[in-house]
Amino acid sequence: MDPHSLRVMFVSSEATPFAKTGGLADVAGALPLELARLGHQVWLVIPRYGTIDGAAHGFKEWKRVTVPTSSGPIEAIIEQGVLFCSQGPPDCQVSVLAIRYDPYFGRRGLYQESGVDYPDNLERFAFFSHAVLELLVLLEQTAASSPTLLHAHDWQTALCLVYLRTLYARRPRLRGLRSLFTVHNLGYQGIFPAEDYPKTGLGPELFTPATLEFFTSLNLLKGGLVFADFLTTVSPTYSREIQTAEFGFGLEGVIKERRDRLVGIANGIDVEIWNPDTDPVLPSRYSVSDLSGKRVCKTGLQREMKLPVRDVPLLAIVSRLTAQKGLDLVADILPELMELDLQVAILGTGDPSDEARFRSLQARYPEKIGLRIGFDEGLAHRIEAGADMFLMPSRYEPCGLSQLYSLRYGTVPIVRRTGGLADTVVAYSPSAVREGRATGFIFGEATPEALLTEVLLACHVYENRSEWRSLIEAGMRTDVSWARSAQSYADLYQRIIGGRGVGVEAGTVSPK
Ligand code: ADP
Ligand code: GLC
Repeated sequence: MDPHSLRVMFVSSEATPFAKTGGLADVAGALPLELARLGHQVWLVIPRYGTIDGAAHGFKEWKRVTVPTSSGPIEAIIEQGVLFCSQGPPDCQVSVLAIRYDPYFGRRGLYQESGVDYPDNLERFAFFSHAVLELLVLLEQTAASSPTLLHAHDWQTALCLVYLRTLYARRPRLRGLRSLFTVHNLGYQGIFPAEDYPKTGLGPELFTPATLEFFTSLNLLKGGLVFADFLTTVSPTYSREIQTAEFGFGLEGVIKERRDRLVGIANGIDVEIWNPDTDPVLPSRYSVSDLSGKRVCKTGLQREMKLPVRDVPLLAIVSRLTAQKGLDLVADILPELMELDLQVAILGTGDPSDEARFRSLQARYPEKIGLRIGFDEGLAHRIEAGADMFLMPSRYEPCGLSQLYSLRYGTVPIVRRTGGLADTVVAYSPSAVREGRATGFIFGEATPEALLTEVLLACHVYENRSEWRSLIEAGMRTDVSWARSAQSYADLYQRIIGGRGVGVEAGTVSPK
């Protein structure tokens, strides 16, 4: 192996193809493979959820570790699997280590069931984080090679970074390990009541406003922000936004203090899983040079969503139903949109009141609205392929992957100018279309009026077949792969390991 190759442990609470609730899984499933393709050694560590089909993924027991917890030691089984690169060097693969303790993870959901968080999420993810440290010790002692960098993601794994610099700080073998924390969504911080703090296993001296205390509660994400050597977020714009009160959710001060250690790197997508030319779940495949299959996908989608098969604009949503996504704006304008000759296909699950609102709108306009409440990966692909436009009016959006899938599938995104949406979609204007640059529609204010104006503009442009074709082609030709961003991560890892971290401005390492 190349002497400059990196050894990285990638820790995430979800990863495709094993377990997924949102974009974090896509990132954790794709970025490690892309790093492996670049010649680096990567371990991907996830919880072994009950929903993972261990036999299908070839998971086998590898070792056991004893994890100290506040209620005594617990033995965890480490199961091992492999993710293979579909391209790249012959030995290109990622070693997957799944931490198994069924009383915590052998459940139907990842974090919740029927919209209610598990009451022991703190114990579950403190245990998982602690097990990661024990796993690092084990690898140090027994494996031929072990990580030099720990890369954790979001609140569920933030305690790894705290444990590394506190409970495990004196372990000589772990002392040289560098760390990176990626924030995918500042809206989820892992906040728990102060009285639960002892469940972390940390001493009282760490429950202070400078460390894990946040307005008298425990905040795990804050721990990651404070203790990691370096921080990233998932787009350059979001890395600037989270330093403001509007997007910082109370942590803007902490983030600002560490801004010389913060970098925004936009996500890419797995262009093999998301490829309209080879996608096995589509009724017909297509490419930018022959879009005829996309029309077949559209009629297939209309049938699947029980909509009349008609040649009218088909708008789509695939989303977690949560306030972040701004779908209340869509619900607000749907009655007005229904006066136009168009259709809307919606796939989503989440907030029960959003689900109820879309259900009642669908019952009112069954000829124009197709609705599926639930999580359905295949349908998500068929919607990306069969729709003409994709709606993402997010109030905030750290990066967003769905608009990248839309670009790749020739479905024109209509997005709000925020976070990664602003970084990845080029706004329509007659001149931007003429220059072949425009890939979608962008509006500014998070109001129903602003969204409606943009949708009306998009429907108007849709009638101009050559302009519409230019939007589709520019989108499909955009490089949304991980290649560049994975290189940015590798460069950053190199810099962190080399200790040359100081002086980096937020957003300077970006794929753009
Ligand atoms: P977030 O991570 O905030 O949910 P992203 O746009 O980054 O937003 O990623 C969302 C991912 O989850 C995409 O892969 C999208 O296709 C998928 N997804 C969201 N809701 C559903 C659903 N109901 N069924 C299937 N896939 C979904
Ligand atoms: C989060 C964000 C989303 C981002 C994803 C992956 O869930 O909401 O914008 O794309 O993480 O980084």
